Amino acid sequence: MFPYFLYRSLVRPLLFMFNAENAHDSVIRLGRVLSKEPFKTIFSQKVIESPLEVMGLKFKNPVGLAAGMDKDAEAVDFFGALGFGFIEVGTVTPRPQDGNPKPRMFRVYEAEGIINRMGFNNKGVDNLVRNLKNCKYDGVIGVSIGKNEDTPIEHAVDDYLECMEKVYPVADYIAVNVSCPNTPDLTDLQQADAFTALISPLKECQKRLAEDTGNYVPLVVKISPDLFDNELRSLCGVCLEQKIDGITCTNTTVSRDVIDGMTHANEWGGLSGQPLFHKSTRVLKLVSDMVDNSIPIIGVGGISNAVQAREKIDAGASLVQIFSSLIFDGPKVIKDIANNI
Ligand SMILES: Cc1cc2nc3c(=O)[nH]c(=O)nc-3n(C[C@H](O)[C@H](O)[C@H](O)COP(=O)(O)O)c2cc1C
Repeated sequence: MFPYFLYRSLVRPLLFMFNAENAHDSVIRLGRVLSKEPFKTIFSQKVIESPLEVMGLKFKNPVGLAAGMDKDAEAVDFFGALGFGFIEVGTVTPRPQDGNPKPRMFRVYEAEGIINRMGFNNKGVDNLVRNLKNCKYDGVIGVSIGKNEDTPIEHAVDDYLECMEKVYPVADYIAVNVSCPNTPDLTDLQQADAFTALISPLKECQKRLAEDTGNYVPLVVKISPDLFDNELRSLCGVCLEQKIDGITCTNTTVSRDVIDGMTHANEWGGLSGQPLFHKSTRVLKLVSDMVDNSIPIIGVGGISNAVQAREKIDAGASLVQIFSSLIFDGPKVIKDIANNI
């Protein structure tokens, strides 16, 4: 087994010689190779199984990979071999798109944070579905769906519906991403009226597909940490009314309070990692109270160890996800959390 405790001293310095996006792309490319034998055995990681059931789905452990790491589901078997209990792929859009101009991903070294303005770069939903059909990972797979940048916001629902129809047969749950700060106007979809207009047809579509296929695929909504408390309250009201199956708290923040003056702090985009932890945990706690623990919550934002994962669970989360700490600390974080939570 690969000595992942050497990640910070050995692998990270190598990866950090590249700019953040090139390092990320190399890991995905390498991951495709490493997920096959004989490499799989060397690079895989055993974590203690702690089975749990959330949204009617059975998870081997509560630690998941957050959306955006494997946008096109190209390295699912690799991430699965690292011990994740679930993997969220995407965010995917109906048509392929390049995303924002590069550079668009920056490390904030001092704070172990990342700023990204990728803008839903992805190879399109058909490609993602093909990739998922070929993967062998037997854990839970979530698919995050979004809208193309050039689809007017008033037609956003058409993009979400198209993605939903296509990913339904290959997803264990579907995550509706309305909280990415890097697609123009997208976060406006979290306002109560717009949110109802989006979610209501998606729930109808879910009902129809569940009847047709005999398989109910839960619908999860991923929210921003930047909403005001009154906006959160309205949003939670709609989630209850519409019987949303899960809420993910949270996406990245546009706030720079915590990293003021640090490297790349002036770059626009969403901030993730350590500097996001408190803000996103606060929102998680508020949401949990507002829905009175009646909707399962996936906690994500700044988790890099079991203590922080426990804090998310104490705040109301049933499951947790990581992204930035995988970059700063390597795959041992998955094991540390899953074994000690
Ligand atoms: C480079 C990058 C790309 C991301 N892309 C997506 C995405 O496509 N969809 C999404 O829902 N979240 C995306 N996220 C947000 C993460 O899923 C997660 O919510 C956020 O990074 C907070 O978790 P962390 O602090 O563990 O990184 C992205 C984050 C980063 C750093």
